[in-house]
Amino acid sequence: MTDKTILRALAGETLPTPPVWLMRQAGRYLPEYRATREKAGGFLDLCYTPELAAEVTLQPIRRYGFDAAILFADILLVPQALGADLAFEAGEGPRLSTVQSAEDFARLRGVDGIHDTLSPIYETVRILSKELPRETTLIGFAGAPWTVATYMIAGRGTPDQGPARRLAYGDWETFLRLLDLITEATAEYLIAQIDAGAEVVKLFDSWAGALPGPMFERVVIQPAQRIIAAIRARHPDTPVIGFPRGAGVGYKSYAQAVDIQGLAIDTSVQPQIAAQELQPLTCVQGNLDPMLMVLGGDPLRREARRIKEALSGGPHIFNLGHGITPDADPAHVDQLLEAVRG
Ligand code: CP3
Repeated sequence: MTDKTILRALAGETLPTPPVWLMRQAGRYLPEYRATREKAGGFLDLCYTPELAAEVTLQPIRRYGFDAAILFADILLVPQALGADLAFEAGEGPRLSTVQSAEDFARLRGVDGIHDTLSPIYETVRILSKELPRETTLIGFAGAPWTVATYMIAGRGTPDQGPARRLAYGDWETFLRLLDLITEATAEYLIAQIDAGAEVVKLFDSWAGALPGPMFERVVIQPAQRIIAAIRARHPDTPVIGFPRGAGVGYKSYAQAVDIQGLAIDTSVQPQIAAQELQPLTCVQGNLDPMLMVLGGDPLRREARRIKEALSGGPHIFNLGHGITPDADPAHVDQLLEAVRG
């Protein structure tokens, strides 16, 4: 028996008050985050400096007492560890070298060398597992292979993931080789995070909703199954949260086919439907609209209580449907916690 409420919810327990944390809870909406990021130099310097990455992970825990801390890092560190060039231009988002042909793919490194690049991240996890309050659960994470592939193929964020869809239709063999390489690297990366002290891991498939339906099984479900099978071989008891964002009706097949202990849902899913269709299968995490963290006040309180109530009959972790945005007001997080915790 544990007193960590996140672990209890992921074990299937229905709690009177759902535990709560927020996607991107360490981020630009917090002045102390902006100060530490400034001190680090750039965003990637922050990710690769364990003491500072641990510091920004802890900031929202100190300020709000969330039930979980999520490791501060980024899903695009895995492509970098595989040999892609990566930079974050101020105000422009990520830029990477592209993988659009068998020749481009051949320039990537194999999985064996990834820990050389990623070892500072494991050090961040080790620091956090010592410094977090005993009731706070430490969540590690990685991008799911499809979502990571969309950035590696396009070399940047795209509104419609067009370059990745084009490669999948036009050169399925190269696309699958890339997907399989990321799958293998991601399994190794998450296992190393758990070895270092992560108590839960989350797979972010942010662009699962952009994938043509017939590819969902091979490109979203299968890689998640493989990653979790590899984790289970080493760490049979570590809970996994899956987030196939935008999957629509695919959420149910994902929850049935993949050995997850938690399913994060985006804002498009009706909480009542999630309670009927998804909560009997697994713990549901979500799904307040991040816009309400900008607006605050009664609309925030009303909607938070509605979600809490709708999902109160089964295991639930309260969260947003996507990351908190830089224009959110830090005081609105206090309003949210009061509405959820009473
Ligand atoms: O607090 C946390 O949630 C933990 C840290 C975390 C970050 N990114 C830090 C970050 C996590 C879990 C991520 C995941 C991530 N990164 C995803 C999946 C989740 C999602 O939002 O859909 C994706 C797609 C990325 C890739 C990425 N990282 C992009 C497209 C960008 C630029 C857009 C932006 O918001 O600026 C980032 C940068 C990034 N990752 C920031 C943070 C706090 C902002 C960088 C800054 O400080 O300027």
